[in-house]
Amino acid sequence: MSVVSGVTVTVPATTANLGPGFDCIGAALTLYNVFNFNRLDEGGLTIHVTGEEADGVQTDESNLLYQAFVKLYQYIEQIPPSVKIEIQLGVPLARGLGSSATAIVGGLVAANQLAGEPLSQLQVMELAIAMEGHPDNVVPALLGGCRLAASNGAAWEICDVPWQENIIPVLAIPDFELSTSEARRVLPTEFSRADAIFNTAHLGLLLRGLATGKGEWLKTALQDKLHQPYRKALIRGYDAVNMAAVAAGAYGMVISGAGPTLLALADAEHAQAVEAAMRTAWQAEGITAVVRSLSLDNQGARSVKQG
Ligand code: HSE
Repeated sequence: MSVVSGVTVTVPATTANLGPGFDCIGAALTLYNVFNFNRLDEGGLTIHVTGEEADGVQTDESNLLYQAFVKLYQYIEQIPPSVKIEIQLGVPLARGLGSSATAIVGGLVAANQLAGEPLSQLQVMELAIAMEGHPDNVVPALLGGCRLAASNGAAWEICDVPWQENIIPVLAIPDFELSTSEARRVLPTEFSRADAIFNTAHLGLLLRGLATGKGEWLKTALQDKLHQPYRKALIRGYDAVNMAAVAAGAYGMVISGAGPTLLALADAEHAQAVEAAMRTAWQAEGITAVVRSLSLDNQGARSVKQG
C-alpha cells in the first residue's frame, strides 16, 4: 500500500459552560490534539496513538475521530478511503476539556480536506454539532476564541464573545475521569422559573464581565443553577478547591464542561497564587491535579495538507 495524500489537523481543547452558559458557550484553550491522516490506496484502517493517555483511545472503527471522518464521507455520498491515522494526544480524556469535540472536529476537517473541500466551514460546523449533540465544545474547537451558540430552530447563530486579555483561565485537571453521559444523567429535565431567570441574568452578566474584565461582575456572573449544583457531588473536593481558589484571589470557579476539571478565572496578578491554592486543596483531599494557567486559542482547528 502507498500513501496517496495526507493532512494534519490540530484542534484545541475547550472549556464549556463557563458557569451559567450550560450547553451554549465555550472557549478554545492553548492545549491541543494533533491528528495526522494519510490516505492509502488500499489497506483499510490503522490508528496509532501517542501521548500519556494513549491507552484510553480505541484504535478500531469505533474510534470517534474515525467515525467523524466516515460521517463526512457519508454526508457527501462517497466511500471513505483507506487511511492510516496518527494521533498525538495532548488533551486529557474524559476530564471536561472537550477531547471528544477535538475528535469530531478533527475527523470532519480531515475528511473535508482529503475530499477536496466539498463542504463549507459552516456545513462542517453543523455536522459537528449534530454529532456532539450540543454546540458549546465543537464550535470553539472549530473556530477558536470564546463562542456563544444559539439556535433559531433551523440553524445556529454563532457569535464571538470578547474576552478581556487580563482574564486568565486556570485549569485544575484531576487524575480521575468523569464521563459526560454520567454527568448529564444527574441533571433534572425541568427547572423552575426562578432558576431559569437566575441563569439568564448571570449569563448576560458573564458576557459583559468577560468583555470588560470588571471583577465584581465576574464574581457574581460565574454562578449557575442549571448544572453545577447537581454535578459537584460527582467531583470530590469541589467545595474545598472552590474556596481555596477564591481565597487566593480568583473571581470564581466553575466546572469545566461536564467536569471533573475545575476552571477558575483570575487576573494575571493572582493566577499563580490561584494555581497553587487549587493544587494544594485537591492534594489535601488525596487527589493529584495538574494545574495550569492557559490562554485562549483564537485560531481553532487548523490543517496542513501533504501531497
Ligand atoms: N455542555 C456539556 C455538558 C459539555 O456540560 O454536559 C460537555 O460535553
